[in-house]
Amino acid sequence: MRYINDIDIKGKKVLIRVDFNVPLDENLNITDDARIRRVLPTINYALDEQAKIILASHMGRPDGKVVKKLSLAPVARRLQRLLKKEVCLAPDCIGEDVKKMIDRMEPGDVILLENLRFHIGEQRNDPVFAKKLGQLCDVYINDGFAVAHRTNASVVAITDYTRVCGAGFLMKEELNYFRRSLENPTRPLVAVIGGSKISDKLGALENLMTQVDKMMVGGAMANTFLKAVNYEIGKSIMEDHLVEVARDLLRTAKKKGIKFFIPVDCVVADKFDAKAQAMITTVQEVPKEWIIMDIGPATTTLYAEALHNARTIIWNGPMGVFEMDAFSRGTYAMVHNIANSYALTIVGGGDTDVAVHRAGESSKISYISTGGGAFLELLEGKELPGIKALERHSS
Ligand code: 3PG
Repeated sequence: MRYINDIDIKGKKVLIRVDFNVPLDENLNITDDARIRRVLPTINYALDEQAKIILASHMGRPDGKVVKKLSLAPVARRLQRLLKKEVCLAPDCIGEDVKKMIDRMEPGDVILLENLRFHIGEQRNDPVFAKKLGQLCDVYINDGFAVAHRTNASVVAITDYTRVCGAGFLMKEELNYFRRSLENPTRPLVAVIGGSKISDKLGALENLMTQVDKMMVGGAMANTFLKAVNYEIGKSIMEDHLVEVARDLLRTAKKKGIKFFIPVDCVVADKFDAKAQAMITTVQEVPKEWIIMDIGPATTTLYAEALHNARTIIWNGPMGVFEMDAFSRGTYAMVHNIANSYALTIVGGGDTDVAVHRAGESSKISYISTGGGAFLELLEGKELPGIKALERHSS
């Protein structure tokens, strides 16, 4: 794979595919600009090289229609503040007006194209749309790790219509940390997997079972494991059709000598509500009508103990319904335990990332991935289409 610093970009028109799909509140204010900040090293490098910088991103899922509230205008304003330099928002991402704007660019200018997904060709990986994008630049750089799992025109097909392709520094960092944690880890390697459904994480669980020394599960997906060992889980969320799969995973762990940890106690509630009546109980004593909302204090202590000798930790998915205060302790305790461990720690996935930020521990995590789906697909052992396309064009 070639990177931006392996390519001569001096004075050239460089289209950088980024993932500025950031969360917005109802007033269209950006609530977390990490995805913008994390691309700054690539943009600054291109600025130092006096390139003409054309940034391209999607926002949300407008499905080929122009949806005003999914305009990249708030991103352009934030980027302008972060770069302390003018960022022009183009009225579209292709077309004559955009071309004219680009023709007028001076070295060191920055343009942000409007939301790529306002054109249906983007999500269809349409070669005609990709060609139009490709024609805007001399060099194509992909620094949008978080969208590298999507076969979209600006991620995949565009590489067929640009002479020179490469990756940015964020992409490089993401892949390096991933390799350090999974392909060549310092052991013991521990995976902590949470979230609400096994079905969402099944591929990751199966792939991780070929690599890890210890596996810990939490969140509602742990309920299916509790069911698999025949515990009563009341009205908790679970996936009936995956109970046998969960049993298989536990059997595989035993066969391979992987220490597989499931909760030993939990916080239960009489309804799925922030103000519900709640109590702590062992997993053997979950009342029939109640719902498991979080891991309990004994599980937290057990997991902390088991994390103690870890040298590499990968974490994806919260341990409970941490958006509700009463059920957030398990997740926040996990944040603190991982942040204070002496291991190389890698965290990925939207919710997990939010929990780490809210707990104020981001600076103590070795690496927080910008990818949600993309991070998960790497954990599943899948090749990301965006990476594959770059590799094909770098050789
Ligand atoms: C993400 O937020 O995971 C990426 O921006 C991809 O967005 P998508 O799931 O809408 O393709």
